[in-house]
Amino acid sequence: MDFKGAEKKIDEIIKETNKQSVLKKIVEYLYNNFKHYSWIGIYLVDGNDLVLGPWKGPNATEHTRIPIGTGICGAAAASGKTEIIVDVHSDNRYLSCFFSTKSEIVIPIKKEGTIVGEIDIDSDKIGSFSNDDKLFLERVAKKLSRFM
Ligand code: SME
Repeated sequence: MDFKGAEKKIDEIIKETNKQSVLKKIVEYLYNNFKHYSWIGIYLVDGNDLVLGPWKGPNATEHTRIPIGTGICGAAAASGKTEIIVDVHSDNRYLSCFFSTKSEIVIPIKKEGTIVGEIDIDSDKIGSFSNDDKLFLERVAKKLSRFM
């Protein structure tokens, strides 16, 4: 699947107005169409924590609530910047979820300048996430902002 085609499909999905259903469908769409996205979840900011919302992957994560500032997820929420981790095992902030995960990308979702959530994607291969993934997912995060 190319990023342009995916963006078109995502634009169709977000025509719907039901928040939970849109977030769930986007997660499923990304998981089903991008092979290197081995696990994907959307975390939502709740006070000083991130709480796991819709997710899709082979296994559930134990990290359903992560304090902002902790882990890769918490770092992206604290800085408001996308994190791309080429090799999770060489980053000491990494909170391990799955034995198979080798690389990770976390994209903050902002609403009127405030971080309201994020997209977290794990990959089973080292260095899976390119700058094109980053730009694409940042555009997706922008589109999701109004559902947060
Ligand atoms: N690895 C993340 C935790 C979330 S799991 O990948 C689903 C982190 O370091 O914050």
